[in-house]
Amino acid sequence: MPIRANQELRMFLVLSGALWSLLGGLRGSFAQQAPTGNPPSFYRDVLPILEQHCQSCHHAGGIAPMPFETYGETRPFANAIRRATQQKSMPPWFADPNVGKFSNDLSLRPTEIETLAAWAEAKSPAGETKDAPPARPGVESWSNRKADLLLKMPQAVPLPASGDIEYTYEIVPTNFKEDRWVQMAEVLPSLRSNVHHAVVYVRPPDSNWLRHAPVGVPFTASTLTDPEDRRGAHWTDSDVLLVYAPGSSPDAWPEKMAKFIPAGSDLVFQMHYTANGRRASDQSSIGLIFSSHTPEQRVLTLQLTNDHFVIPPGVPDYRVEARGTLPHDATLLSFLPHMHLRGKLFEYNLIRKSMGTEGKPDYEIEPLLRVNYHFHWQMSYRISEPRFLRAGAELQAVAWYDNSKGNPHNPDWQAEVRWGEQIHDEMMVGFFDVAVPAGVDKQHFFARTKEPQQVQ
Ligand code: HEC
Repeated sequence: MPIRANQELRMFLVLSGALWSLLGGLRGSFAQQAPTGNPPSFYRDVLPILEQHCQSCHHAGGIAPMPFETYGETRPFANAIRRATQQKSMPPWFADPNVGKFSNDLSLRPTEIETLAAWAEAKSPAGETKDAPPARPGVESWSNRKADLLLKMPQAVPLPASGDIEYTYEIVPTNFKEDRWVQMAEVLPSLRSNVHHAVVYVRPPDSNWLRHAPVGVPFTASTLTDPEDRRGAHWTDSDVLLVYAPGSSPDAWPEKMAKFIPAGSDLVFQMHYTANGRRASDQSSIGLIFSSHTPEQRVLTLQLTNDHFVIPPGVPDYRVEARGTLPHDATLLSFLPHMHLRGKLFEYNLIRKSMGTEGKPDYEIEPLLRVNYHFHWQMSYRISEPRFLRAGAELQAVAWYDNSKGNPHNPDWQAEVRWGEQIHDEMMVGFFDVAVPAGVDKQHFFARTKEPQQVQ
């Protein structure tokens, strides 16, 4: 996750992009011609690739620092693009290609990587505008498609220049007179460089969660006086509307599925800010697109969590696991692993128990996702073909941590590391979305189980 250095990192990347252009330019003069002998042109060959694989982030106002929408914007980065795509650092994608298929995998095919390289080597010709593909249908961002409703935290949160910042909450009333189903949602921080992550919860009118906490003003657990509220600031089973982290794209749920916000609910923003060397303030919003009718299924965000691990100092591959059993049938839609600076690898598996020989159970583990975790990029992984799971299905999340000197992001390899809110502490949360019948809420979903659940 971009901690304080995000802005600097971007600067660095933009500068190093320029440097690569230089190097690439030198190397270009020895390079081969494009495979066809007819070099690729921007409008005919490059723009279609950018539209499909890059512009969801590289558009004006997007999360990437520079848009790649026009020839003029893209050309200066031709060599940086060649380099980044050949090294596979762009588009960002961290899932093991041998495990699972994901609909938001924007990875390039080898021929596309070659086309981008050949274009850079041919000194990035524009070609003819008449060859340009039709403009990309913009669904990924509110700058392309207007939200039905934009709800802003009523008050900006002042952020100090340095030091740890406790989780900050702000309760935002929706004033919905009727139940609403949400088809798409996006968190829009006003200060992206300081938002480490955000979770937006739905608090229905009959929920007692944080009931004595102030509405419409920022607060933290330590400013709350009611003990029940204080506990609530650290733990809740309220439904999550969405999780934002740098790199995450807006959530759009598949057709006939949506998130539910009951009439009269509040949205509770849980913001994890990091100081950035300068005093600043953030006033994040959430954009919502509603579905016009009641969907067939409701999407719930659940999580596999382990909060009682101790990572010893210096260990390069410490394993932490969490398991949970689904109490009811559910369709698995997507995953979002969350760790901090020592996160290395995160896996989701399905565990199948069968009666083996001599009456001892056998376990079969089916991997669902394996992520080479990169803390800058907390991405969600949307399963291409959602997976129906029967009640009783057992899910396992396994996280690996690198607390050694060899981890360049490790703030202190001599520390014993436990669960904690701050970036130098660790977390182990395997968020995942499931679809259940439209009438089922989270409480109902877990109602019939007595087991202490790790799936929450
Ligand atoms: C999920 C969002 C996302 C997608 C998709 C994406 N980028 Fe990026 N890109 C970024 C961000 C953000 C940065 C700024 C650096 C950072 O934060 O890591 C960046 C930086 C870059 C850079 C400069 C840094 C470098 O690595 O050279 C290049 C070049 C680049 N992207 C090319 C591409 C190309 C080409 C594609 C499509 C094939 C693409 N990106 C797709 C988000 C994205």
